[in-house]
Order: sequence, then structure tokens, then C-alpha cells
Amino acid sequence: MQRVFSGIQPTGIPHLGNYLGALRNWAAMQADHDCVFCLVDMHSITMPWNPEDLRRQTLGSAACLLATGIEPTRLYNQSAVSAHARLGWIFNCVSRLGWLNRMTQFKDKAGKNRENHSAGLYVYPNLMAADILAFHATRVPVGDDQKQHIELANDIAQKFNHDMGTEFFPQIEAFIPPAAARVMSLRDGTKKMSKSDPSEQSRIVLTDTPDEIALKIRRAKTDSDALPSDVEGLEDRAEARNLVAIYAAMSDETMSDVLARFGGQGFGPFKNALADLLVEKLGPVATETARLMQNEDHIISVLRAGADRAREISEPIVQEAERLVGFIR
Ligand code: TYM
Repeated sequence: MQRVFSGIQPTGIPHLGNYLGALRNWAAMQADHDCVFCLVDMHSITMPWNPEDLRRQTLGSAACLLATGIEPTRLYNQSAVSAHARLGWIFNCVSRLGWLNRMTQFKDKAGKNRENHSAGLYVYPNLMAADILAFHATRVPVGDDQKQHIELANDIAQKFNHDMGTEFFPQIEAFIPPAAARVMSLRDGTKKMSKSDPSEQSRIVLTDTPDEIALKIRRAKTDSDALPSDVEGLEDRAEARNLVAIYAAMSDETMSDVLARFGGQGFGPFKNALADLLVEKLGPVATETARLMQNEDHIISVLRAGADRAREISEPIVQEAERLVGFIR
């Protein structure tokens, strides 16, 4: 069985982009893959953070992931398993500055004020490579924005193998969903839906109530034309394209199917149907998250058991990497 690894930052509640780009594929892949899913809390401190928020959001994200159907034994938080930090350090010494300089996500996050960001933010992609390779995982379900990081992980694996003279780390394949791999902000169709957007109206989060979902969809930015009858008609209409893509992904249809039904109509009826669809699919996730959140101790014990399993898988792999490097135990 192929091993799957993926991670999500516990910085805030997962949103619709996380769900369509990654989480729902995580849940689906459990049936025929050996899956390891991680709340990457070490990645969450690469940007300024508040300790109490991090703790609360890690537990909240765990509840949310369990509510989307992730099996409890497959879930843990990164900092509880030392393999990540140990292999991450080795990869800091394998990866090249030139490679990291090309990472667009660092450039986006650091902006113009590069000098003032943490060193952790810069070497983040090395830790991400370690996350995956500490498990010898070969498939990584992620949204489109993580593609460059997976390519870097492959470069790191290849260089390690070459330098150590052995094919120790496998090649990794990103699994990026065919639809909704990049869900855009509801306020601006040129920006990715993101946890860090200051406007809560820009995203639907998995704990939103039906009223909140309906309101956010009703307020979602659109243009004043009717919906086109084919996908070509969505060109240069980023907001309309995003809403149609969300509808198609949520209903497991193609965008053409959706436009065959709604093309020629104004946004009013389409937005009502989209809100209903989202409430139908996401409502149960919100209810289950709220139920799980009532028992914090249970969530902590789930994460601990998941960490035990993650340690069992990763420890021999990372010990072998350490031996190859020349470390004495
Ligand atoms: P993060 O926490 O930003 O996002 C988690 C997952 O959600 C996907 N995603 C999206 N997909 C579609 N549309 C969007 N607007 C959108 N926003 C986020 C992301 O692609 C991701 O799959 N670096 C990673 C976490 C990570 C990781 C790993 C992932 C750390 N180690 C190892 C895979 C394997 C991140 O920050 O994801």
C-alpha cells in the first residue's frame, strides 16, 4: 500500500480552500492508502504567533479534521514527533540557498520586509520535505500552492541520495485535485482564499453556521453579467469562475455541467443554490466539530495516540538517515 503524508497549519479554522484542495482528498485516500496526517504546529511558529491561540487552534483544527472523516489513529501534531526536527536539520544542510531563494511562497509571505522575518520562514520548505520523507511517503495530497515545495522536496531527496551514495529516499508525487486546486477569495478573485486574509468575508470556514455561509455567498463579489453557458465564457471573470468551480467541486460535476444548468441566469438563483449546497455538505462538519470540541481531553488523547504511531513509522527511517550522515547513536 502506498504511503500518503500531508499536513495543515493549525493557524485558524480550516477553510473551504483547505477542504477542497486537500482535506476531502485526505479523507478519501484513507480507504486504499497508508495515511499519515499532521497538524504542522512547528510550521505555525515561522510567523509571529500567540501561544494560547496556537494551543487552542491546534485542538480546534484537530476536531475539525476528525469531523471531515480523518480516522483518529492517523492524526497527530508535528512537534510531538522529534523525527521532523531531526531530519529537518539534516535537510537544512542538504538544501541549497539558491533553491530556497526561488520559493514563491516565501517571497509572498515575507513581502518587501524580508530582513525582518524569521529564519524559520526561510527554511520552512526544508522542514516540509522532512515531514514527508521521514515517513518515506510517496503521495502527497495538497492544493496547487504547495506544488513548488513538493518539487523542492524531490530535489532535496535526490541530492541526499546522491551525496550518500544510496537510493534511500523515494521520489514524491504531489496529488493535486483536478478541480478547485486553488480556491480564490470571495472578495477578490485574483487572491487565494487564505486564513491570513483580514476579511472574514473572504472565506468560508468549516465551522460557519448556515446563516454565515448564506451571507458570505450572497455578499461574494461578482460582476453584473449573467452566467455564461460555457467555460470559455468565464475567461477574465475571476470571481464568477471561482464560484462555478466551487459549485462543481462540491457537487462532483464539471464546470460545464454547472453552466449547462445555470448559464444565462443572473447570480441570484445560482448563489442561493451554491449556499444550499455548501450548507448541506459542510453543516454536518460544523456540528461534529462543535461536539468534539466539548471534550478537549479526548482530542489530546487522540493526538497522543497518533503521535505514538507516527513515531513508530518515522523513527527507524530517521535513525537510518542519521547513520548514513555519519551521526553516532
Ligand atoms: P496550509 O496549512 O496553508 O494548507 C493546507 C492545505 O490546504 C491547501 N490549500 C488550498 N487549496 C486550494 N485552495 C486554497 N485557497 C488553499 N489554501 C490552502 C494547501 O495546498 C494544503 O494542501 N506547507 C503546508 C503544510 C505542510 C505540508 C507538509 C503539506 C507542512 N508540511 C508536508 C504537505 C506535506 C501549508 O502551509 O499548508
